[in-house]
Amino acid sequence: MVVERTLVLIKPNGVARGLVGEVTARVERRGFHLRGMKMLRVSRELAEKHYEEHIGKPFFGELVDFITSGPIVAMAVEGPSAVKVVRDMMGATDPREAAPGTIRGDYALEIGENVVHGSDSVESANRELGLYFTAGELVD
Ligand code: RTP
Ligand code: MG
Repeated sequence: MVVERTLVLIKPNGVARGLVGEVTARVERRGFHLRGMKMLRVSRELAEKHYEEHIGKPFFGELVDFITSGPIVAMAVEGPSAVKVVRDMMGATDPREAAPGTIRGDYALEIGENVVHGSDSVESANRELGLYFTAGELVD
């Protein structure tokens, strides 16, 4: 069993719609452990670092505008194969294609406002956790 940590974000529309408890409960009930959690407003600098792989794509401007548009909740989530299992729980990037029972499949319809973020690899997770949390903000 490979225990991993991944970054989960509840994006501005998830927070605005009161879905913090719902998303957090799903992650916890699945059996994952929270190792860090905070609410913050993402700066443009942080957004551009987080989404640097998408710089130059047509949706990049909207992506940065959206993620910086209001407070988010960031979580460090730990458990077996956390990166893949959490992505599976979130569903497809485009919520219209996300299966019912997934977070996006149950709570979203627009690709640009798809409620949650999950790291897409262990390498991404480590990089992103370092962007959102200091070592002292994570617990063992
Ligand atoms: P995320 O990083 O937010 O967890 O989403 P993801 O891995 O499923 O998707 P990714 O390819 O990393 O894209 C990041 C976010 O950009 C927006 N997007 N818009 N209009 C488009 O074609 C398009 N493609 C991506 C989405 O909001 C996606 O979550
Ligand atoms: Mg991604």
